[in-house]
Amino acid sequence: MVKSTNLLFSKGLFSSSTKKIPTVGELPNHIAIIMDGNGRWARKRFLPRIAGHKRGVEVVRDVVKQCAQLDIKYLTLFAFSSENWRRPTEEISFLMGLFMAALKREVVKLNENNIRLVLIGDRSRFSPELVQQIESSEQLTENNTGLTLTIAANYGGRWDILQATNQMIQALPEKADGFEEDDLTPFLSMHYAPEPDCFVRTGGEKRISNFLLWQLAYAEFYFTDTLWPDFDQTCFDKAIASYKQRERRFGRTSEQVTSPG
Ligand code: IPE
Ligand code: IPE
Ligand code: MG
Repeated sequence: MVKSTNLLFSKGLFSSSTKKIPTVGELPNHIAIIMDGNGRWARKRFLPRIAGHKRGVEVVRDVVKQCAQLDIKYLTLFAFSSENWRRPTEEISFLMGLFMAALKREVVKLNENNIRLVLIGDRSRFSPELVQQIESSEQLTENNTGLTLTIAANYGGRWDILQATNQMIQALPEKADGFEEDDLTPFLSMHYAPEPDCFVRTGGEKRISNFLLWQLAYAEFYFTDTLWPDFDQTCFDKAIASYKQRERRFGRTSEQVTSPG
């Protein structure tokens, strides 16, 4: 479905966040996290992998709370990638069930805390019940003005860029010989949010795994060996502290950033 570009443009969120340089020491406005290491956490304890996923949901709750307390505006969590369908069927079914149960259980609390919930990803492979639960959770929280919590489920960065490109071509056929960045961005799944400032990956791997490919172009990366179920407040604070020390330049020199003009 082609969205109304006029409506989207009128919200003015689509130019790249890299145009305005944040000051060193500022909190990130948007944190994106690959929550990795649930399976290894469980294996270390001779438990089935799903025990790690269960524990991981509790950590999600804690991290959401910490972001809300710090008044961080956007938190985006990678819950299930488009490649995770390659996992054993039982693990996929468990993850879908866990997702459904967590949505049902948490949405009222999210709403009470003024948190807006948004799901990004291809919903076409989800059960009708799960799609219904996602839609009702989004609707319930859509006017909330605190933290925007985005869950990426059946999400892939390449899928996102392709679906946005297809929508853009349909919406702007007259520009087909020369599209610009700002033509595409209203159609990306995260069109409602500024690009992530801080990207965190737990679990020791140093890769993006097809997460927000377009939007992470200028994010600050933070990798930790801590497995997601162990990612507690101290780990979260360390990630934030690391981000706050970074000097973001977006192509400029350090001198330009420290004494602009
Ligand atoms: C991340 O943990 C959760 C999902 C991908 C759903 P993993 O399940 O990838 O855990 P490891 O990497 O096997 O330890
Ligand atoms: C990335 O984790 C996806 C999520 C955390 C949902 P994976 O554990 O699936 O990543 P790879 O396949 O090891 O790169
Ligand atoms: Mg993994």
